[in-house]
Amino acid sequence: MSAAEKRPLLFTPLTIRGVTLPNRVVISPMVQYHAKDGLANDFHVVHLGGFARGRAGLVFTEGTAVEAIGRVTQHDTGIWNDEQVTAFRRIVDFIHGEGAKAALQLAHSGRKGSMQPVPEGNGPLNEKDFAKGRRAWEVVGPTTEPVGPGWLIPRALSAAEIGGIVEAFAQGAKRGDAAGFDVAEIHGAHGYLIASFLSPVSNTRNDGYGGDRAGRMRIALEITRAVRAAWPQHKPLFFRVSSLDGADGWNLDDTVALSQALKELGVDVVDCSSGGLTNTATAQPIPRHPGFQVPFASAVRNKGGVKSMAVGLILDGKQAEAVLQDGHADLIAIGRQALYDPFWAVHAAQELGCDPSFAMWPQEYGWWLDKRTKSLVLPKAAE
Ligand SMILES: Cc1cc2nc3c(=O)[nH]c(=O)nc-3n(C[C@H](O)[C@H](O)[C@H](O)COP(=O)(O)O)c2cc1C
Repeated sequence: MSAAEKRPLLFTPLTIRGVTLPNRVVISPMVQYHAKDGLANDFHVVHLGGFARGRAGLVFTEGTAVEAIGRVTQHDTGIWNDEQVTAFRRIVDFIHGEGAKAALQLAHSGRKGSMQPVPEGNGPLNEKDFAKGRRAWEVVGPTTEPVGPGWLIPRALSAAEIGGIVEAFAQGAKRGDAAGFDVAEIHGAHGYLIASFLSPVSNTRNDGYGGDRAGRMRIALEITRAVRAAWPQHKPLFFRVSSLDGADGWNLDDTVALSQALKELGVDVVDCSSGGLTNTATAQPIPRHPGFQVPFASAVRNKGGVKSMAVGLILDGKQAEAVLQDGHADLIAIGRQALYDPFWAVHAAQELGCDPSFAMWPQEYGWWLDKRTKSLVLPKAAE
């Protein structure tokens, strides 16, 4: 690409507060069920490190619990003690060594805690799980209403207990900073604790944490205020929301209003997912097709005036670039397509023609791939 040619937006750095992302490709949070006692380990170094090797600009951890009962499964990572900080530090250092930035998703499962891993059923634990040594724990939520029939009955949180969870998020952010993370994200989506308070379907409380939209948003805003105060001012804060959760539930207007309130509190980017409130991940409020959640990111950015991240079946470089060029989002999160191809970012750069000589690749790969490509000329057939 000559200097005169325009660099694709996808590969143009983006500075938010004091952090410059080398490009706008983000690896979306993806739980892997490989942690023990909340500790990240060699698996996570290889899994997350691979995306940094593949030159994504920002690599997210999986949803990482701020307290033990806030895990979705007992195989999730956590950030409630200092040993977990040390375990993450190694991963963050590796990601930094590859030139990428690292993001921590701070999570609390709420009433969707103590579950099966998604590929093993994505429901409440059953006899088969108990035979594997899995143990249930008491889950908490806005009310005693479970996710669905047969699921654990949550204990309804008191206002004082909510204060404890707000503090756990703040402590998680402090530990994330100590581990060296560049970005923190509050997980407010997919029916977990915060989402279950936002939605009128799951939050039928009649105290100050329920009722109208302001009441239902209260826990999200209190957590955000506490995390922003604990998280360094020069580091960006993201918030993931389920932009809508079904016909009579939380909707896109609510999401735009929430995004504006979050921005007031110092949230820099709203990460626009959807669904997950009831039952399993397969109960989705809208049909899935490439870019199915882009309109949500667009509404947050263009109606709400808040930076947004688009996610959901964004499959290739041209599609991602078009989302940015059309002004629908500021960042592109890649989930499953990065499982399919951990080197998604450098492949997208090739596709967009901005890295013809493999200069973006890790040097020890790129030098050889450039030579290989130049050798791909078929010998002339004999006359
Ligand atoms: C294996 C897997 C694990 C996931 N775990 C999380 C998670 O920990 N936190 C979260 O917010 N979303 C999680 N998600 C959702 C993704 O971050 C992403 O929003 C979703 O897969 C849609 O994007 P995609 O079509 O690019 O995969 C997970 C998705 C997958 C496939």
